[in-house]
Order: sequence, then C-alpha cells, then structure tokens
Amino acid sequence: MRIKDKVAVITGGSSGIGASLVKTLVTSGAKVVFGDIDQVLGEKLAEGLNKEHKDSTVFVLCDVTDKNQYLNLFLVAEKTFGGIDVYKVAVITGGSSGIGASLVKTLVTSGAKVVFGDIDQVLGEKLAEGLNKEHKDSTVFVLCDVTDKNQYLNLFLVAEKTFGGIDIVCNNAGIAQANEFYDDSRNFIKTINVNLTAVIEGTQIGIKFLKKRGGGVIINTASMSGVNPWSVAPVYSAAKSGVIGFTRALYNLKKENIRVNAIAPYFAETAMVKVAIEKNPDFAEVIKRHGTLSTNEVVNAFIHVIENDYLFADIVKVTQKNLFEVLPKVKL
Ligand SMILES: NC(=O)c1ccc[n+]([C@@H]2O[C@H](COP(=O)([O-])OP(=O)(O)OC[C@H]3O[C@@H](n4cnc5c(N)ncnc54)[C@H](O)[C@@H]3O)[C@@H](O)[C@H]2O)c1
Repeated sequence: MRIKDKVAVITGGSSGIGASLVKTLVTSGAKVVFGDIDQVLGEKLAEGLNKEHKDSTVFVLCDVTDKNQYLNLFLVAEKTFGGIDVYKVAVITGGSSGIGASLVKTLVTSGAKVVFGDIDQVLGEKLAEGLNKEHKDSTVFVLCDVTDKNQYLNLFLVAEKTFGGIDIVCNNAGIAQANEFYDDSRNFIKTINVNLTAVIEGTQIGIKFLKKRGGGVIINTASMSGVNPWSVAPVYSAAKSGVIGFTRALYNLKKENIRVNAIAPYFAETAMVKVAIEKNPDFAEVIKRHGTLSTNEVVNAFIHVIENDYLFADIVKVTQKNLFEVLPKVKL
C-alpha cells in the first residue's frame, strides 16, 4: 500500500514513537489524525506539521480508555478527510460516450478520481467540464487514440501526475464496423487494432502502474459476441473472443494483487448500436431478439468487479434487468 493520499489515525501521537510515526506519514504525503492525552505537545506537533504540509494533520484530545473519545478520533478523520481511505483513481478509455461515459460518471459520483481518454474531444471535454462543476477536480479528459501506444501511455502518466497513482484500469474503447469482413477490404485490421491489440497494450501499461500502487483491478470490455459468435460481425466477434481468452489467461497476476477481468454485455443502448442498426438491417433483427441493456446496467457489472476481490481472470456476462453471471473459470 502506498502511503501518499492515505488517511491514518494514530493514538499516543504527541510524543515518542507515535510522534515520529505522525511526522513520517505526513512527510510521506498522508493525512493524519492523531489523539493523545497530552494536549500541549499534540497541538504543538500538529501546528508545526501544518506549517510545512498544509491541512495535513489534526490533533484530537483523546484518552483511549474512553471508548467515546476513541470513536470521536475516527469521526474527526472521516469528517476532515472523507474517510480512512481517501479515494481510488481510475483510468478509462472510450469514456466520451456510451458505456464508458456512464462509467466515468458513476465512478466520479462515488468519490473516485477519473482520467479518461477518447478520440472524441468535443464530447470528452464537455463531460469532464460538467463533472468538475459538481465534483471539483475529479475528472480529466485526455485526447487519446488507443491504437497509438504513446498516447495510451500518456493517459496513465497524466493520471499519475494529477492524482498520484492508479488503482482501476478500464480498457473500454471499442468500435463496430459494418464493412469489416464481407466487403473484402482490410477494414478488419482496424477492428482488431482497437478492440484487441489496444486492450493488450493497455493491460501491459496498466500492470506497470498498478504494481507501483501495490495492486489494483483491470477491466476489459469484451462482448457476448466473444462468447456466442455473431455472423454479422465475424471479426468483431473474433476480437472480443480474443479479449476473453487474453483476460482468462492472466490468472497468475492475482499473486501480485492485480485482478484482470472482462465484462461481456449483450446489446446496450449506445451510439455503436444505433449506427449499426442504421447500416445493417440484420442488426435490428438480432437486437430485437435479445433486447437492449441500459448503460447503467452494464456499469453495475463493472462496479461489482471493482468491489469483489474473488473475481480474477473472470468473465462477467451482462444480461437484461441488472442480471450478471460469472462464466465458469477455464484454463489449461
Ligand atoms: N453497445 C453494445 O451493445 C456493446 C455490447 C457489448 C460490448 N460493447 C463494447 O463496449 C465498449 C464501449 O462501446 P459503446 O457501446 O459504449 O459504444 P460507443 O460508440 O458509445 O463508445 C465507444 C467510445 O470509444 C471511443 N473510441 C473509438 N475508437 C477509439 C480509439 N481508437 N481510441 C480511443 N477511443 C476510441 C469512441 O469515440 C466512443 O466514445 C466497446 O468496447 C464495445 O465493443 C458494446
């Protein structure tokens, strides 16, 4: 666990080992609430530390043999710094619209800091501006084409520089193209590059950054077409199937406290599906058969993965009415 941006509660912090611990944590970037029965020394220590590290330290008069005073120490920490653990930082791609945009909003309103990338700068900047009005300094948009590894890396560097590190990575950007195979063009290469190659590279970069934080979670956006292949979009199905196989193979990363999982939704009400229906009447028929999910229903599956440590190298299938199912684990 990194110390920077964590919140610590310490008792017996006015002198000796406790005081040294308070100083070390504060100078390492943590916020500290410490209690002691020695008010004179405690207030002096807090005053000195706050001079050098603004709003970093709070002294509370607290006798640990009085349970109410002890509880009060925690209540002060929660009120002053928002909890014992401050916030999580998420990096999301394809965050300007659809599932990605819903995910950005949900994480920010849950108290996370989010850096998201997309090729759609207009929508991205608008979303970040709106969220920052309500949740000050919570969201950063970065123009990022995931097929350019340097731009992908830059997204993580911005997140690290702005918020001190990364805990959650969502490789979500994706495309569906009407003419990806049967027209004999080489359009399919773009489908593979965005939907599979970029997910692999995003995971490679993500692992390096999560390791610095002592672990975290990576969520790749696959699709049910990667489980049940779809004749209308064979290359899209292949790419999403690739994301599923790739994710399942990363089970050993759990040893390093990194959980890699994938979400496999059926159809969701996004621009991708609307455009697909317009371009290919066959789409409409398939979608009618399966129905559509709201983006929030898909996002609920992301939150489930973030919050549940038992999920690693797992594929979460998302069906209608907030139903999701973890597919059986498979490996060689
Ligand atoms: N909508 C569905 O029915 C459905 C179902 C299963 C899986 N998915 C997957 O969900 C993910 C999100 O799709 P969506 O439905 O929200 O569609 P969407 O089109 O609303 O969102 C996709 C976002 O990705 C961005 N993007 C595209 N290419 C990019 C690139 N090269 N670099 C960076 N950003 C790029 C787009 O600008 C857009 O903002 C995709 O991976 C998609 O394959 C969607």
